[in-house]
Amino acid sequence: MADKQRFELFARLLVSRFEAAPRIYDIAGGRGLLNEALTRLGRTVTTFDQRHKHVEVRYALRPFTLDEPCECDLVVGMHPDGATRLIIEYAARHSLPFAVVPCCSDNGLPYKPWMRHLAGLARSLRFARVEEALLPMQGRARVLIGEPPAGPPLDAER
Ligand SMILES: C[S@@+](CC[C@H](N)C(=O)[O-])C[C@H]1O[C@@H](n2cnc3c(N)ncnc32)[C@H](O)[C@@H]1O
Repeated sequence: MADKQRFELFARLLVSRFEAAPRIYDIAGGRGLLNEALTRLGRTVTTFDQRHKHVEVRYALRPFTLDEPCECDLVVGMHPDGATRLIIEYAARHSLPFAVVPCCSDNGLPYKPWMRHLAGLARSLRFARVEEALLPMQGRARVLIGEPPAGPPLDAER
């Protein structure tokens, strides 16, 4: 069972780590509770998911894809399952920072190899800094963070 404090803990980490990111995309945000926590801390957040039962936040009721127009400064996901890789790829496409708290893999990998795989993916997409933080909670608590280099979009040459 995932820790119920996870949204508050992740929101606090995000605002302290990304001071200059007023607009955030919360991918695979479920009921919108991370959005709620970040909104309380002064950020403008759009959650993407398909839960008809969600709290009253800015909510895009559709699957997030790489084609989504970019109107954000940071892209994040808490336990985003099948959208985890997408978050990293979308951030690379738009030269944005990302922060994800991975949970289940989309390819059958166990947790630790999945974490290594995601860090490798971010490095291969030429994020300048790829690092980890840890949320003080039970369950899947490792946060993978990527910061793009200054300059043209990371995937401009691909
Ligand atoms: C384990 S739940 C986590 C929900 C929430 N973040 C939380 O921590 O409670 C995974 C969520 O990923 C969503 N999801 C998976 N792929 C998605 C995509 N491409 N776009 C939007 N949501 C997606 C599912 O609908 C589901 O709500």
